[in-house]
Amino acid sequence: MDYQVIIPAAGQGKRMGVGKNKLLLELQEQPVILHTINVFLHDQNCKGIILVIQPDDERIFKELLKTRPMKEKIKTVYGGTERQFSVYNGLQAVENTEIVLVHDGARPFIKLSVIHQLVEKAHRHGAAIAAVPVKDTIKKVDQHQVMETVERSSLWQVQTPQAFRFSILFRAHQQAHRENFLGTDESSLVERLGYSVNVVTGDYDNIKLTTPEDLYFAEAILKKRSVMK
Ligand code: CTP
Ligand code: MG
Repeated sequence: MDYQVIIPAAGQGKRMGVGKNKLLLELQEQPVILHTINVFLHDQNCKGIILVIQPDDERIFKELLKTRPMKEKIKTVYGGTERQFSVYNGLQAVENTEIVLVHDGARPFIKLSVIHQLVEKAHRHGAAIAAVPVKDTIKKVDQHQVMETVERSSLWQVQTPQAFRFSILFRAHQQAHRENFLGTDESSLVERLGYSVNVVTGDYDNIKLTTPEDLYFAEAILKKRSVMK
């Protein structure tokens, strides 16, 4: 089933602390953002990629994309000051699709099998997100005092992609915008409209590159993949 994807890439990468957009850091001689985009460029079911960037990065991103095969699939738009605003800008540039995915530029290890499951579930149920069961014990803490041990069996760590019927996600973003609601993911905007959201079991490799040590994990994942090929 066909879909289009919005890739927010307009952040500043402050927690990575490299003084530039972390998506331009190289993993095995290729910028992170290209690892991410390549997955969707090579997926025949992906009919459009809306890449959300910041104006300061435009020249360098355009240069990177120049030689990509099938680059006609990519449309670039400018992002906002918050991730949610970036995705909203991306949504306004989406044309003619039943299913839209949102996938962080900072998650380069997403697998096609997860993408395709999400698309099918979103088609059937309206909304679906990738997540993995939490491995650690999680406690609620207030001022360095344990308040509560949260029952782990019901806790899932949520990732992107998140997939939706376009009409649902657009309405959810419009409403959040009107009500000044800022959520940390797309699903939370859709949940508050009362929709149920399906959970697809993702993959622990689908990490978000956030802080410097994530780069070690990233190198290890790439190494594992090259050994398994
Ligand atoms: N993002 C975006 N627009 C923003 C903020 C973030 O498009 N205003 C994108 C990032 O480029 C990234 C994804 O959203 O691909 C997830 O955000 P995060 O991991 O927080 O990246 P940054 O915001 O760049 O990092 P930091 O929060 O450490 O500054
Ligand atoms: Mg951020």
